[in-house]
Amino acid sequence: MQTYELQQKILALKQQTGLKILAHSYQAHEIIEIADAVGDSFQLSKTARDCEGDKILLCGVRFMAETAKLLAPEKQVYLSAEEATCPMAEQFTPEEILREKAKHPGCAVVAYINTTAALKAVCDVCVTSSSADRIVRALDAEEILFIPDRNLGDYVRRLVPEKKIHLLQGGCPVHAAVTGEELAHAKQLHPQAEVLVHPECRPEVTQNADFVGATSAILEYARKSEKTEFIIGTEQNIVTALQYDCPDKRFYLLSKKLFCADMRLTTLADVYNMAQAIADGTAEEITLRAQEQGARHAIDEMLRLGG
Ligand code: 13P
Ligand code: SF4
Repeated sequence: MQTYELQQKILALKQQTGLKILAHSYQAHEIIEIADAVGDSFQLSKTARDCEGDKILLCGVRFMAETAKLLAPEKQVYLSAEEATCPMAEQFTPEEILREKAKHPGCAVVAYINTTAALKAVCDVCVTSSSADRIVRALDAEEILFIPDRNLGDYVRRLVPEKKIHLLQGGCPVHAAVTGEELAHAKQLHPQAEVLVHPECRPEVTQNADFVGATSAILEYARKSEKTEFIIGTEQNIVTALQYDCPDKRFYLLSKKLFCADMRLTTLADVYNMAQAIADGTAEEITLRAQEQGARHAIDEMLRLGG
């Protein structure tokens, strides 16, 4: 089936079932085109909670679908590619985090949203890359255990120096693979370009960028900027999205390593198959075990403190 034909079939299924499709901005362009909402993980969480209808299909990775289910337990939530997970989400077990917390009595445990629901359940509050510094600043606790992304944690440390932030050795294998040398090389090739990077990148990259921000912030900055050339330090599909939106500007990918295999697992055919299965009543819903439902508190706190 052609892309256009598949898209038309998905749109018809959406109308038939009342399904809402929520897509992370890293998804392929043909998926973004048929989505009801596109955004970074913070925006998707809020949309899952607030959108009308009782069925949500998440195009992204598992923790995003779990978060949607936590925030909208009354809705049926589905993930378009069953096996799409974020490798960072599974880097620590709840037991390891509880042991770590015991070393810092009185600290608040702050979990990046890219974690499993079971892990969130033992934490005080979640953050996304767009809300991390705001939330850490707003917490009463002076001492923070920030898990699992050391790079995002280090970035927050620089923005909120008044708090004592303990870090673990976790992180995004995609963003953390980019080196300062690659950045220097990209700047040499494109000396006029502004450098926009995600805070999951190493400090040697974020400290030498013109702008550091979550996916949505990078998109907004580049769209509004009067500059015409940009080096982009986040998933390749953001370069594609920006090039569609701003044909008069030029976007260069900071490193070929910026390819998230898990985010790319979802195809338009997967979305169609899942939408059809939902219509047929045969699709498997996201369900949460009792210990995972304890994660709701940390997500609610994120939305309360992060606006
Ligand atoms: P955002 O919160 O910027 O969407 O980040 C999610 C993610 O997985 C980045 O790699
Ligand atoms: Fe996880 Fe990194 Fe992929 Fe984002 S880009 S989903 S943090 S592995």
